[in-house]
Order: sequence, then structure tokens, then C-alpha cells
Amino acid sequence: MTKTDAPGLQEYLAEQVLLIDRVLNDWVPEETVEPASIHRAMRYSLFAGGKRIRPVLAIAAARAVSDSPDGVENAAATLELIHTYSLIHDDLPALDNDDLRRGRPTCHKVFGDALAILAGDALLTLAFEVLSRLKHIPANRKIRLVEELSQAAGTVGGMIGGQVNDIEGEGQTPTTLLLESIHRAKTGALLRASVRMGGIYAGVSGDELAALSQYGEHTGLAFQIIDDVLDVEESSEALGKTAGKDEAQQKITFPAVYGLERSREMAEQERLAAHVALRIFDDRAERLRQIADFIVQRKM
Ligand code: IPE
Ligand code: IPE
Ligand code: MG
Ligand code: MG
Ligand code: MG
Repeated sequence: MTKTDAPGLQEYLAEQVLLIDRVLNDWVPEETVEPASIHRAMRYSLFAGGKRIRPVLAIAAARAVSDSPDGVENAAATLELIHTYSLIHDDLPALDNDDLRRGRPTCHKVFGDALAILAGDALLTLAFEVLSRLKHIPANRKIRLVEELSQAAGTVGGMIGGQVNDIEGEGQTPTTLLLESIHRAKTGALLRASVRMGGIYAGVSGDELAALSQYGEHTGLAFQIIDDVLDVEESSEALGKTAGKDEAQQKITFPAVYGLERSREMAEQERLAAHVALRIFDDRAERLRQIADFIVQRKM
């Protein structure tokens, strides 16, 4: 694919979303499979929209490394399973207590707390089942993918650890150190894992993996900075989730610590650093470059 015959980013993203949704639809049991209520709850949250940015990153990273990483969309979909589980739990009354997600009432509002907790648990569990059943790569590569995903979703520097710090930080005096560690963990870890998993799937070299990790760290931090900025600047309608929630809950966010203007500047610095990290790659990393730009320029 040359730069000139490649579709524009919006078209590319739309195509990728279709591909990822098809794979997710194949892996998640149908709504009629018993116990039907849990499958309805899982599908309700999974197919409510969502940018699918983590699987998109995984596929783009795999393509930066290899021309034909067959079946990579299956591995990529596991990131969306984990991410959607984290959103369902993030919205629970005991965490952020949110009513709106992806433009719909939250999972627990429709199905009740018990099924929302279990739907999250089920998506989490399914992610690892999918990794265990990947067909196109050797077993040692699957094990590396399991290690990446479990660490990124885990308690030490991973998503759950970040969520704990986020919840415990509510109402606390924000320090710049705590702020960055929350963001790197609760969101950055899974974005970093997305590109690393894509790379690993495609048989990445050591240098390439180091570069992808750097890229993932910078885009991951930028992603959550912008999430915080949009929470202040955009409406609930535009975001499909409750705007202004962070200030109301006294969350430790970039705008709370640095203000909006400086936060945007910091996201821009991360975007540029992400580009620098990709220097060792040729044109095949062009989508990753465009996605870094998209992450900072997005409106939702
Ligand atoms: C929202 O993630 C929660 C964060 C980790 C910042 P996304 O902005 O990727 O949400 P969806 O998947 O598009 O709904
Ligand atoms: C959530 O961060 C990060 C997760 C691990 C789900 P936020 O609480 O800021 O996400 P939103 O704004 O509700 O999507
Ligand atoms: Mg939260
Ligand atoms: Mg939240
Ligand atoms: Mg947020």
C-alpha cells in the first residue's frame, strides 16, 4: 500500500471498526445462549459504539512490523474485551457511578449491578480464552500475549492499579507525580500493551518492540490527558458519557492540575514524542503516526 492509494484515516478507522466488530461478534456467545441475560449484558455494552482504538492500534502495530499478520484482529479484539469490561466496572455506583456510556444508559442501569459486575468478569475471562485459541501463531507467542495483557490489566502499573489510585485520589490534593502515575496506569498501560501485542503477534524484533513501547507510552498518556480535557470542554451528548464528571467527583486530572491550555500543550508534546519513537519504521508505520494525531485531535 502506497501513501497515495491508501484510504484516509476516517475511512480506514471505519473499516477497522467493522472488522473488529465482526470478530467480537464471532467470539461472544449469542444473546439466545443460556444464561441469556449475561450474554445480553455483554453484547449491550460491547456493541454500543466505541472507537475501538486499542484493537486498531494493535492491528496498525502488527502491520508496521509485517505485511501479513494473518488473524491479528482476533488478538486485537481481546483488548476491546478487557477495555469494555473496565468501562462497565468504572461506571458502577461503587466506582464512578455513571448513568451514560457510549450514548446509552450504563450496563448496571439496564441490567442491575450484579449482572454488570458479572458481564465485566465474563468479558475479562473471554479475552484470555480467545488468546488461548489463536490459530495463526506459535504457542510461545500466545504466552507472551497473555503476559502482556494480564500485566497491563493488572494491579502493578496496570489498569486496575490505576483505577485504585484514581478512586483513592478523589478529593485528595493532586500532586503531579500521582497524576501521571494514575494516567499511565489506568489508561496508558492498555494502550502501550495494544501496540506491543500487535508487534509481538507479528514477530517483532527487540528494537522494534522498544520503539513501539515508547510510542504506546506517549500515545497512552496523551489519550488520557485528552479524555480529561474533553470531560471539561465537551457536552454529554457529544461524548456519549457524562461530561463534567471529573470536577464534580474531585478527580485528579490534567486540567485540575495544569489547566486546559497547558494540558493540551502537554498532549501535543506526547504526540510529537510518539512520532519520534516511530523513527526506525518506514511507511508501514504511517497509520500509527496518523492514529497518534487522531488521539490528540479527537472530539470524543
Ligand atoms: C474511555 O475510553 C475510558 C478511558 C480509558 C479514557 P475510550 O475513549 O476509548 O472509550 P470508547 O471505547 O471509545 O467508548
Ligand atoms: C477510566 O477513566 C479508565 C478505565 C480504566 C476504564 P475515566 O473514569 O476517566 O473514564 P471515563 O471518562 O469514565 O470514560
Ligand atoms: Mg474512572
Ligand atoms: Mg469514569
Ligand atoms: Mg474520563
